[in-house]
Amino acid sequence: MYFFLKKYDLSWNICLFLQLDMENYRFVSEKILDWYEIHKRILPWRGITDPYKIWISEVILQQTRVVQGLDYYNRFIERFPDVHVLAIADEQEVLKYWQGLGYYSRARNLHAAARSIETCFGGKFPEDYESILSLKGIGEYTAAAIASFAFNLPCPVVDGNVFRFLSRLFAIEEPIDTSKGKKLFMELADRLMDKQQAGIFNQAIMEFGALQCVPASPDCEDCPLVANCLSKMQGKVSGFPVKLNKPKTKELHLYYFYIHSGEFIFLKKREGKGIWQNLYEFPSIESETPLEFEDLIKHKDFQALFPEKNVAGFKLLIKNYKHVLTHRILYADFYEVSVENESGLDKYKKIKQSDVGEYPIHRLMQSFLEKYAKND
Ligand code: ADE
Repeated sequence: MYFFLKKYDLSWNICLFLQLDMENYRFVSEKILDWYEIHKRILPWRGITDPYKIWISEVILQQTRVVQGLDYYNRFIERFPDVHVLAIADEQEVLKYWQGLGYYSRARNLHAAARSIETCFGGKFPEDYESILSLKGIGEYTAAAIASFAFNLPCPVVDGNVFRFLSRLFAIEEPIDTSKGKKLFMELADRLMDKQQAGIFNQAIMEFGALQCVPASPDCEDCPLVANCLSKMQGKVSGFPVKLNKPKTKELHLYYFYIHSGEFIFLKKREGKGIWQNLYEFPSIESETPLEFEDLIKHKDFQALFPEKNVAGFKLLIKNYKHVLTHRILYADFYEVSVENESGLDKYKKIKQSDVGEYPIHRLMQSFLEKYAKND
């Protein structure tokens, strides 16, 4: 079938491929479904229709790769096997099960949404797209994944893998990170979808993007759609998907103080709306620009933290530890210091050093503690 080549000869535009015959769409969807039958991975959230478990798996997979996500998924489901158990759990415990995945707001949203399923939907997971979408933290992609995998509703899913695959197959120059682009890809995924088996089709197209049409060096010779792939014909596979410029990542410099008073150390709970909300960390100072120790000791937060401290006792354990978040690059220094006088520390949580494992901490703290434990 050479329909794509014909379209390529004409100067390609969006309207053209949205006008392909149903036969052409069916051709692509059958190829994907046949491929999926042979190549799909056996995963615990596949072949099930429990919307709760599908939801948990999707949120975990937004954070990490399948191989790592499996452990998190199994542990989470073992401890919180259904909506009710999650709803009645303590938020701190939910965060503990999320530790290491990052973006703790996702875990907080899971917990809040489980509670609203209990209160607004009588404890039963909602079964229509709009109600699923109304839950906290569930966006269009996740709602479509749950609605189609669990209830076979014909909602297209377009994740990063699907964007890549479709943009390459049809050589779509429209950037994927614009509302026009998103609408276009949704429309295309909708037309390709086998509505009789929406759930399986959606999993198949995502898996095709994840395993066959991979970001770097895809094995095109082994692809069932190689003869139809416009980007391949143009010799531009790696040029897709097209994105507008990414937002600039901002730098933040963090100065942590690992303060000992005998067998005790001090933690603070991060307040506010940030991604580390409600997670514990050492007392710290934050700055948009890098600060040397002589700048730090003049900082008002330093003086509040250590009003009477002789600055000779500070030991720099780790300098400029880089931690990359989506919109921020963090650089962290960790200072260790022993105090005899605890003035300035009364607003912090004083805990036994050996109890630090009981508190939910963010990934940067975790990296420090792992590294420090090795050097200790
Ligand atoms: N990535 C996102 N959702 C997924 C799923 N259901 N299976 C495998 N990878 C995924």
